[in-house]
Amino acid sequence: MKFFPKNLDIEDKRIILRVDFNVPIENEKISDPSRILSVIPFVEKLIKKNAKIVLVSHLGRPEGKKDNKFSLMPIFEFLKKKIGTKIFFYADNIDEKAKSKSLNLKQGEILFLENIRFFPGENENDDKFSKQLSELGDIYINDAFSCSHRKQASIHKITHFLKDCYAGPLLKKEIDTINLILKEKKSPVTCIIGGSKISSKINVILSLIKNVENIVIVGAMANNFLAYRGFEVGKSLVEEKSSDIIYKIYSEAEKNNCNIVIPEDYKISKSFEGKAENREKNEINSDEIILDAGSKTIKLIKNIIDQSKTVFWNGPIGYFENKNFSEGTNSIAKKISDNTVNNSLISILGGGDTIAAINKSKLNLSFTHLSTAGGAFLEYLEGKDLPGLSVLK
Ligand code: 3PG
Repeated sequence: MKFFPKNLDIEDKRIILRVDFNVPIENEKISDPSRILSVIPFVEKLIKKNAKIVLVSHLGRPEGKKDNKFSLMPIFEFLKKKIGTKIFFYADNIDEKAKSKSLNLKQGEILFLENIRFFPGENENDDKFSKQLSELGDIYINDAFSCSHRKQASIHKITHFLKDCYAGPLLKKEIDTINLILKEKKSPVTCIIGGSKISSKINVILSLIKNVENIVIVGAMANNFLAYRGFEVGKSLVEEKSSDIIYKIYSEAEKNNCNIVIPEDYKISKSFEGKAENREKNEINSDEIILDAGSKTIKLIKNIIDQSKTVFWNGPIGYFENKNFSEGTNSIAKKISDNTVNNSLISILGGGDTIAAINKSKLNLSFTHLSTAGGAFLEYLEGKDLPGLSVLK
């Protein structure tokens, strides 16, 4: 891997810095700025070295269309207050105008691009778009490990058009730490997978089966397994056409002696803002939404954690944004933390939402490693060569 060399002369050079500012935003307010804060020290170093910076990030999944709901403006405003340099927001097309804006930057100044996923060329990893984007800089740095599993223009194809491409310090720290932990991991290994990004994670489960002893499926992902087994899931989030993959998951799990665990009971409500009621898995009505794991399930997961020597956890257990449904996430986080401190459990937690949930809980917790990455971490765990990393080798 080509890491950004500390002593590289970057004075007056335009640096395209791909970061992950995909942070949770509620009512136009950033509810957890951890990902932004982690990028600032490196940006400040580049400023000190008199470079010119072009910041690139995505937010959410706007599918190639401009959508104010996914604007990076709140993040720009946040960063402006934190960084003592001139920073300009650029919301127009990635073309000659953008190029001239980058060329007009003075040393230590930043051009902050609007959500890169507003352009269809980003998700399509399009040649022309990647080339135009590459023309905004002399050097490219990927410091977004959490996005490196995406074969997208600002992560992948852009590197075809620039000679000097590097992995940044945050990315280096992530993979160095994860590699070290994977080398030292001990069995039994338990992987807890939650959250709401079902489509991108369901295939990962299939590959993990061969590497871990237990897979605990929680969050919205578990709804599919419940529906597959013929239970009512009411108005809960489910993925269409997931039954073939779930069938494969169960049969592979049997072949490989991997224990698949789904919740036995749930916390439900009629709305996301509502109060929680505990229900058995066969007691959910058609107008109800599953929003957290139930108390029996929480106990069961705690038992599995007690029997494990390594735990990987990605994705909240429930809809933690409403405190009535945060018990699952908070109590499992506390259990993993306690066992890390007292029983030398090896624990890696990952993902933007998981970190946001832990920060929101205000609990004082300790883990072996807290990764910024969710999907990327899981795919790395599978042993996949991530597209964003392979182009930097
Ligand atoms: C993440 O939050 O895991 C990264 O920002 C990647 O987001 P994505 O799953 O929408 O590509």
